[in-house]
Amino acid sequence: MKALLISRDSQLYAEIASQGAARVPPLNMAAGRASLRDALERPVADQPELLIVDASETDDADADLLERLARHYAGAHIMLLTRHQQPELLIRAMRVGVREVLPLPLVHRAFHEAMDRIAATAGVGANHDGKVLAFIACKGGSGATFISTNFGYALATLADKKVLLVDLHGQFGDATLYVSDQKPAMTLSDVCSQIARIDGPFLHSCLVHVAPGFGVLAAADDPAQAKEAKPEHIDTILRVARQHYDYILLDVGRQIDSVSLRALDNTDFIYPVLQLALPDIRDARRLLDIFRSLGYPVDSIRLIVNRYEKGGKLRLQDLNSALGAEVVHTVPNDYVAVTDSVNQGVPVLQLTRSSTAARSLAELVELVTARRVPENKGLFDRLFGRSESEY
Ligand SMILES: Nc1ncnc2c1ncn2[C@@H]1O[C@H](COP(=O)(O)OP(=O)(O)OP(=O)(O)O)[C@@H](O)[C@H]1O
Ligand SMILES: [Mg+2]
Repeated sequence: MKALLISRDSQLYAEIASQGAARVPPLNMAAGRASLRDALERPVADQPELLIVDASETDDADADLLERLARHYAGAHIMLLTRHQQPELLIRAMRVGVREVLPLPLVHRAFHEAMDRIAATAGVGANHDGKVLAFIACKGGSGATFISTNFGYALATLADKKVLLVDLHGQFGDATLYVSDQKPAMTLSDVCSQIARIDGPFLHSCLVHVAPGFGVLAAADDPAQAKEAKPEHIDTILRVARQHYDYILLDVGRQIDSVSLRALDNTDFIYPVLQLALPDIRDARRLLDIFRSLGYPVDSIRLIVNRYEKGGKLRLQDLNSALGAEVVHTVPNDYVAVTDSVNQGVPVLQLTRSSTAARSLAELVELVTARRVPENKGLFDRLFGRSESEY
């Protein structure tokens, strides 16, 4: 989509140009004009689809110029940016079909939401509407990295989904090592430092490719570099990712900082991972209290119990009532298969398909994608081509 920006403010021009370039498909600045009068006197030959009008120096008397401009570029969408109340101008603007009015200074999220509405009306859509799922360990070593990385592989290979995993560990991120032996050429901090370049292909080129539909964006390997990542970068990355992937998995790590918080704000579902032991339950309760205080809806929080062994002293029902959130899935304790997989950096589903850990991940795929299983024929039968009795 091409835009004409009418503003004297060169900083605003640069800001909108960089936000626009980060969109998928990008919003290109066809031209800039200093004022409504300048725009009328020097029309743009290549018809823009969007006029962005900075009305901060425009007074009500300029409404006539806006009407003339709207007539000249009939068919173009108009976005008005205002710094103060201008009721007369707003009424006239609405009459000429202006639907989007945003306050200045520009709030990026509001700008992109307005752009999404304009793109939807103009029929310039994205191909995907990806879901963001965050995995967070309630206690160190609960298994969030093992589950998120291996679940990503399972989603891509069993359900044919396009999956991106972002390792958000500020320090000691190790997600790629769980499923790959490739050394990441680019990390999250590299993407953040070049955020103006981001689009689908650029993001794709920064990943460690584990399987055709599954890539991992590695964490910065140096804590100093990790500081590159800012909350607003996470907004941009996730927005672009949603347009290009079916699922975006976040390995959040245990530290809650401004970056991971922003990531959690952007998620559809949060999967806290814990083991069935008192210290884990205590930490889980603290984490859930934080989520509640942040206003995250209870039904967006879905507990996963890892290394689950039936018949223990603590039962799943006890956990449900102690934490007030639902356990949606359990992953069995499968020491041999998981240790082999983690040590070799090969997804457990690839290494030992019939292991209980691999089967549990396949179940999680079914749960998350809500795939229908034909009657009398379980997902396992179809995935592994074996009958129940063989397991
Ligand atoms: N279901 C399982 N069965 C057996 N072992 C497991 C299982 N899940 C995880 N493990 C083991 O526990 C170890 C820790 O898991 P993982 O690194 O995924 O935890 P984490 O929650 O990401 O921890 P951290 O807080 O360090 O990020 C792994 O090295 C793995 O060997
Ligand atoms: Mg981890």
